Amino acid sequence: MKQVVRKAVFPAGGLGTRFLPATKVIPKEMLALVDKPIIQYGVEEAVASGIEHVIIITGRGKGAMEDHFDHSFELDATLERRGKKDLLEVSRGVAALARVSYVRQKDPLGLGHAVLCAKELVGNEPFAVILPDDVIDAEVPCIKQMIEVFNEKGGSVLATQTVEGPAISAYGVLAGSQDPANPRIYNCTGMVEKPKLDDAPSKQAIIGRYVLTPRVFELLEQTQPGAGGEIQLTDGIRALLKEEKVFGYTFEGKRFDAGDKFGMLQATVEFALKRPDLGPQFREYLKGLKL
Ligand code: G1P
Repeated sequence: MKQVVRKAVFPAGGLGTRFLPATKVIPKEMLALVDKPIIQYGVEEAVASGIEHVIIITGRGKGAMEDHFDHSFELDATLERRGKKDLLEVSRGVAALARVSYVRQKDPLGLGHAVLCAKELVGNEPFAVILPDDVIDAEVPCIKQMIEVFNEKGGSVLATQTVEGPAISAYGVLAGSQDPANPRIYNCTGMVEKPKLDDAPSKQAIIGRYVLTPRVFELLEQTQPGAGGEIQLTDGIRALLKEEKVFGYTFEGKRFDAGDKFGMLQATVEFALKRPDLGPQFREYLKGLKL
């Protein structure tokens, strides 16, 4: 029986040290890209892809995310009293976006461990994983594209992007070959987390979007700490690959690493330029800088 992908896991327990001092108190997932916290882009992508249940893996000091996706009684009442209908819609809209559950990751043991924290809530069905730092601008939401591939191929799907040079060492990297029938599909034979450039099996880097079968939970339970001493999702999926097919997928769209200062600057410029309310004025401003 074909199983529908209904749930998406958002690992959001990390400390966000790449963005200090902004993330000393504020969760990195709550940093604004133009005027929306970066995690909201991921949640909107999930909802637009048919996901019904969002599961956020949180940690200490991350409570702002829970408040964000909830009603804000005082704010909403004040906006209503002042007749600010548009803003009220914005505020209420966030709370109405999706059914959201939270699981605390008590120990920062790695991405694989964070995903494992969702085991009970996901249960025995395929699910999506969205890393909120990776903001993807795409006509068809990235995770929707991947769910289509999952339904067609019947195996787990990892988003990939070609990365040249030493930057590859910041990623999980696939081994395998391009599918002759569809150049966007990569038939995986292996994968390694954060290899040295010389050890990288290809230029196919894993980007923060996954559609996985639930068997990965049991395998993650047996996964030992790997790169950086952490329980790596990549290692769990490599174990899955011994039992099931796993595919890389070159998505259509552009990915920004919004968990990084430079990536956030790039995303800010491009997203702001696309906004009908800000774009024209911002374009004129940038032109005036005479760089
Ligand atoms: C994580 C994954 C890595 C993947 C990357 C994509 O690494 O472990 O395999 O390539 O996300 O953003 P992190 O960026 O958390 O170090």
